[in-house]
Amino acid sequence: MINLSLSVIAFAVTIAAHCTRPQLAETVDTYLLAQASGQSADFKAHFDNSTWLGYYENAKKVDINAGVLTKALPITHNRTIYDTIACVTYTEAIVNSTTDPYVIGTQLKFANHKINKVDSVVTRPGDWLFNITGYAYWVTQEDWTEIPVEKQDTRDTIKHAADAYLDLFNAPNTTVPWGTPCVRLEGGLYGDPGPNGTCQVGVPSGVPITNRRYVVDELFGAVDVMIDFGNSKWPDTHEFRIVGGKIRYVHTMTHCGTPNCGV
Ligand SMILES: *[C@@H]1O[C@H](CO)[C@@H](O)[C@H](O)[C@H]1NC(C)=O
Ligand SMILES: *[C@@H]1O[C@H](CO)[C@@H](O)[C@H](O)[C@H]1NC(C)=O
Ligand SMILES: *[C@@H]1O[C@H](CO)[C@@H](O)[C@H](O)[C@H]1NC(C)=O
Ligand SMILES: *[C@@H]1O[C@H](CO)[C@@H](O)[C@H](O)[C@H]1NC(C)=O
Ligand SMILES: *[C@@H]1O[C@H](CO)[C@@H](O)[C@H](O)[C@H]1NC(C)=O
Ligand SMILES: *[C@@H]1O[C@H](CO)[C@@H](O)[C@H](O)[C@H]1NC(C)=O
Repeated sequence: MINLSLSVIAFAVTIAAHCTRPQLAETVDTYLLAQASGQSADFKAHFDNSTWLGYYENAKKVDINAGVLTKALPITHNRTIYDTIACVTYTEAIVNSTTDPYVIGTQLKFANHKINKVDSVVTRPGDWLFNITGYAYWVTQEDWTEIPVEKQDTRDTIKHAADAYLDLFNAPNTTVPWGTPCVRLEGGLYGDPGPNGTCQVGVPSGVPITNRRYVVDELFGAVDVMIDFGNSKWPDTHEFRIVGGKIRYVHTMTHCGTPNCGV
């Protein structure tokens, strides 16, 4: 009787647990180490090959053995958010190099506690507003620390804030929960970091944002959305920091294949 109830409890815990932060973090570490070393054997050992969906760079399915992970990149900054409900993570990695700089955004999707999809936006000089000096500097000036439990926004509030921002690009009458200040880091270009900074400048219109893939993390008040940007469907990532229901920071990377997206 005692044994039976214990196994029932164990089962209930298993199905309710989804993914845990430490478990996801351990696997993300193997990703970062793979990129830092150019050696991905340990990373691949965390793949769920039975449900494998693919390795993507800039929205193209590519051979992992021919992609950016084969290059040992000296990562100078990394920050990850964890979605323990959807079992997906997002990592921002910066290579602040004068000769071969990168800013990479990567979502890792999990199944059976292993990775079954790698989805990266890989940006380099020539990509939209790319400026490694700016990107590397401004991230050090921001606060993306944990939000105390009593001040955390719900998953829905966080996700809706990001969706409102992205909807605005194609529906000008959308109400967006702008923070004051709100500041956007776009490729490397930074908005006004002062108390009156606003993210409302530079939002285009007539630009549908489709194929949204989310990573929502209540602890950091953060959400990343990988998207197809506009009718050209440029591979893009938008990461948001939401504080008190309002947008505080936006980080964007866009790869368009032509220098600065032809602008
Ligand atoms: C990622 O950042 C953490 C600190 O946040 C650091 O301890 C770790 O070494 C970094 N990983 C890589 C591969 O640079
Ligand atoms: C999945 O397959 C790759 C080869 O594509 C292999 O390197 C890796 O070790 C495999 N992972 C597991 C957990 O078996
Ligand atoms: C890159 O960003 C830095 C820091 O914000 C800025 O000083 C510099 O002028 C920028 N470079 C270009 C080419 O915009
Ligand atoms: C990025 O690299 C440049 C060139 O080495 C350096 O001057 C700058 O301080 C670095 N930025 C950060 C935030 O470390
Ligand atoms: C926003 O504009 C669209 C047409 O562009 C309209 O269909 C929709 O009802 C409007 N929504 C609000 C809340 O005004
Ligand atoms: C911010 O806006 C307020 C109200 O308009 C103004 O008084 C203040 O000087 C502004 N601060 C800065 C740094 O621009």
